[in-house]
Amino acid sequence: MQMRLRYDWVNSLRLNGTVNERECYSRFAERAVAPGNSAERVRRRLGGTIMSSWVEGTVVRLHAWTDTLYSLQLRADIAPFAAGQFTRLALEIEGEVIARPYSFLNSPDDPLHEFYFVTVPGGPLTGRLITLAPGDPIMIASKAAGFFTLGELQNAGVLWMLSTGTAIGPFLSILAAGELWRRYPRIVLVHSVRTANELSYRDRIQAELQRHPEQLQYIPFVSREETDFAIRGRVPVGIESGELERRACLSIDAENSQVMICGNPAMVHDTVKVLQERGLKKNRRHEPGQITTEQYWKGKIT
Ligand SMILES: Cc1cc2nc3c(=O)[nH]c(=O)nc-3n(C[C@H](O)[C@H](O)[C@H](O)COP(=O)(O)OP(=O)(O)OC[C@H]3O[C@@H](n4cnc5c(N)ncnc54)[C@H](O)[C@@H]3O)c2cc1C
Ligand SMILES: NC(=O)c1ccc[n+]([C@@H]2O[C@H](COP(=O)([O-])OP(=O)(O)OC[C@H]3O[C@@H](n4cnc5c(N)ncnc54)[C@H](OP(=O)(O)O)[C@@H]3O)[C@@H](O)[C@H]2O)c1
Repeated sequence: MQMRLRYDWVNSLRLNGTVNERECYSRFAERAVAPGNSAERVRRRLGGTIMSSWVEGTVVRLHAWTDTLYSLQLRADIAPFAAGQFTRLALEIEGEVIARPYSFLNSPDDPLHEFYFVTVPGGPLTGRLITLAPGDPIMIASKAAGFFTLGELQNAGVLWMLSTGTAIGPFLSILAAGELWRRYPRIVLVHSVRTANELSYRDRIQAELQRHPEQLQYIPFVSREETDFAIRGRVPVGIESGELERRACLSIDAENSQVMICGNPAMVHDTVKVLQERGLKKNRRHEPGQITTEQYWKGKIT
């Protein structure tokens, strides 16, 4: 179990491609937790070598958007985070602690922490998350992690935010945090889903559109059914064909764009490839570029 948790955590950080294994482990540096509570049980299970700092949070609300898409709101006293970062949620399931990374969807200023997730068939944690009720305890890492934040990006004329499925979450956090309005004159939020009923958070997006009508655009992609408002198909195809840029009346180019891509690893891979063919480069600390990515599970490595 220790190894499983260890490699899960290390892999999730590796997906960001910015920290080495030693740094990953050092992020487990533990703070004291009150003995006897769930946090202490999690700590014991994690053992003496790989230790994490866990806080016991309380579920406030579980909202079902569809029979597979849910939002979880919880209250927990955790360290401040930056919009775009992720944390880890954990539950003890049949005597085993199962922990997984989840992006914050709420603004860092919001006292309620919110996570948007899809149930994966047979998935150990999501199958249990959907049984939670208000008042239930849930473990959350005390410190957030990740580099999918505006602090890692250069300024640009256009910020493109490309997501699949539940990966709209970190972008909603970034929109709510507000820094982007000062740094990017034009912002395009793209949400790519299979069917239109999976375009969650339309009210929140609508409110942002009303607050920033000249600056923000929202362009949904729906791949498995026809609609009269979304682009039909997949994001990289929409970039290659020029349909996304035509819809936005903006171009994606190395001179004037920053592109954040989050979610399905195959989409991240295919989109990066298309963008690299246009001369955009991956964004690295020692060599700033235009493409910043986060993958939600293991797949094609970009
Ligand atoms: C940095 C980071 C942030 C993440 N943030 C979120 C988030 O905000 N919301 C969220 O739903 N998931 C997120 N994930 C994925 C999440 O950690 C879990 O993998 C997922 O919730 C499934 O957990 P599980 O234990 O049920 O199944 P797992 O055993 O963890 O997953 C089984 C398989 O399900 C598929 N899968 C996993 N996550 C997703 C997903 N989100 N969409 C589609 N297919 C998936 C993959 O094929 C995976 O191998 C994130 C992952 C990383 C690395
Ligand atoms: N969505 C559901 O109805 C549903 C129901 C039950 C279970 N699940 C499970 O939930 C998980 C997540 O489903 P999801 O629908 O949120 O996420 P998803 O499978 O990542 O699909 C989201 C969007 O990404 C697109 N996509 C996939 N591969 C791509 C690529 N290489 N390039 C560009 N775009 C790509 C999909 O297009 P395509 O449609 O063309 O693939 C879809 O429009 C899956 O493990 C699934 O088994 C989903």
